[in-house]
Amino acid sequence: MILELMQNRRSVRRFKPEVPPDADILELIEAAVAAPSATNKQPWRFLIAKKKKHFEIIARAVDKARQHYISLLSPEYRSEFANYSVHFMSFQNAPIIILPIYRAFQGISALVKEKFPQKKMAFLRTYEHNTALMGVSLAIQNILLMSEAIGLGACCMTGPLIARVEIEKGLLVPKGWQVAAVIAVGYPAEKPEPPGRKKLEMVTRWL
Ligand SMILES: Cc1cc2nc3c(=O)[nH]c(=O)nc-3n(C[C@H](O)[C@H](O)[C@H](O)COP(=O)(O)O)c2cc1C
Repeated sequence: MILELMQNRRSVRRFKPEVPPDADILELIEAAVAAPSATNKQPWRFLIAKKKKHFEIIARAVDKARQHYISLLSPEYRSEFANYSVHFMSFQNAPIIILPIYRAFQGISALVKEKFPQKKMAFLRTYEHNTALMGVSLAIQNILLMSEAIGLGACCMTGPLIARVEIEKGLLVPKGWQVAAVIAVGYPAEKPEPPGRKKLEMVTRWL
């Protein structure tokens, strides 16, 4: 049952050192690209990293950004953020990371005339950006579910994106593309307790 698979999936942050075979990673990408996307634009690409140097580029950028934020915070929040943002670094425990990247599809915004009001143009750009982000997000969920299905563990992380621009520079992400998340993948070395969910009646409103 697909619901059971969805409910059993957990965010895994501790991994065995063994590296999953490329064929398994490609299965995850196959699941990713089965996701729907607006106008079937498939506004995604997937960077797969397993070399130490790529992990280091990301880890250095994230840690630098963390330290910068810590220095900006007032002293009473510093240790709280320092502890919390340790979770931005746990991708380092994984043997493989997948970085889904996406780009906004310029649909209506490319068609409207120059005189189009700035505010409306800004709205359209945000709308087009969000539409692409939604597509890649659905692809990410497919990766997480497929991981569960084939015995891998995964964790979708946006914490590292506090250093998004630096990560994109370091990994030579093509212009116009944006990293959506860092997905840690590997054989799970933990089975986290389900953190629970809000009850259906709390999150549902029949109109
Ligand atoms: C958009 C998004 C961003 C997340 N970012 C992080 C992160 O930066 N670090 C982390 O350890 N977990 C991250 N998570 C995992 C969540 O903490 C996790 O999904 C949540 O606690 C529920 O646990 P479960 O996935 O096991 O059901 C993220 C999840 C999502 C969907």
